[in-house]
Amino acid sequence: MPFSVTNQRNNTSFSTNENETILNAALRDNRVYPYGCRSGVCGACKSDLISGRVDYGEYEDFALSDVEKAQGKALLCQAIPLEDVVIDVQEIMTGANIQIKMLPCRVGKIKRLAEDVIQLFLTLPKTQEFSFIAGQYVDIILKDGQRRSFSVANLPEQALEQGLELHIRHVADGHFTPRVFDSMKERDLLRFEGPFGTYFLQSEADKPIIMIAGGTGFSPIKGLFEQAAAQNPNQNIHLFWGARDEQDLYMNDLVKQWLETYPNLKYTPVLSDSTADDWKGDTGFVHEIVSKTFDDFGNYDVYASGPPIMIDSVRDSLLEKGLNQDRFFFDSFEFAKPA
Ligand code: FES
Repeated sequence: MPFSVTNQRNNTSFSTNENETILNAALRDNRVYPYGCRSGVCGACKSDLISGRVDYGEYEDFALSDVEKAQGKALLCQAIPLEDVVIDVQEIMTGANIQIKMLPCRVGKIKRLAEDVIQLFLTLPKTQEFSFIAGQYVDIILKDGQRRSFSVANLPEQALEQGLELHIRHVADGHFTPRVFDSMKERDLLRFEGPFGTYFLQSEADKPIIMIAGGTGFSPIKGLFEQAAAQNPNQNIHLFWGARDEQDLYMNDLVKQWLETYPNLKYTPVLSDSTADDWKGDTGFVHEIVSKTFDDFGNYDVYASGPPIMIDSVRDSLLEKGLNQDRFFFDSFEFAKPA
């Protein structure tokens, strides 16, 4: 039986279908609330449940603790109303132009960027429109129905020409990536669904920004940076890229080109495992280098994408130095679970 969901923040309402999560119902109603993994693990969709009962669904304890639940929080990607409910959440935007679609596509160009990273372009079908915002991700649907999530690395206008650009790291014993590395070829047919997530640029054009990428977390950061640079080529942006070794900075040359073009871009690559004598840059954990670069983060918008442990470390160390929690945007992709 359908229940109504009212968001008291902007006094809007929509209905859920039978067994439908609040997030899915909101997206169906073209409302975009903050979310990431859609599987109860990243915590990005955590919101205030003001009244009404919900089935809290399945989730990880670190995404929603018992204390938070007792305080009236719920994960909107998991919560299914059991009666009419009232929530309080910031609506980021209406999603009229970014409808989630399931589409066929063909593999376009495949390029090895590093020993274990491939740049894969997915050619969009000519007969179907597909819109997204830089930084969002898509799910590739495998033959057995499992999904693998990948951030889009290019801008929507570039994707029309080049296809969707994905950066794929080889996962040993993986279900999908060995195929990409061993046997995938141009014109292979795939299916994807998207776009998903709210990891997109939400900063004013004059706001100083810190971007932090861990490994292939550079993929959405590339889209976000190009979007920010298109909005304001003089925006003050400091990009940190944490990687194991130099070959892991698989688009270092592109960043060097950006440095020549954008006068207010600063770049700090950080290597955690480098043994090379000729590496003159920073070494260690990227969150430590970011943290010690600034005295106070209160004036910055921070975008971070990478492994969950990096996101948590960045969040903890920057909050201690004045970062406003609402200005921390993150994408911890490895959290995505198979369907
Ligand atoms: S926990 Fe809900 S989107 Fe990640």
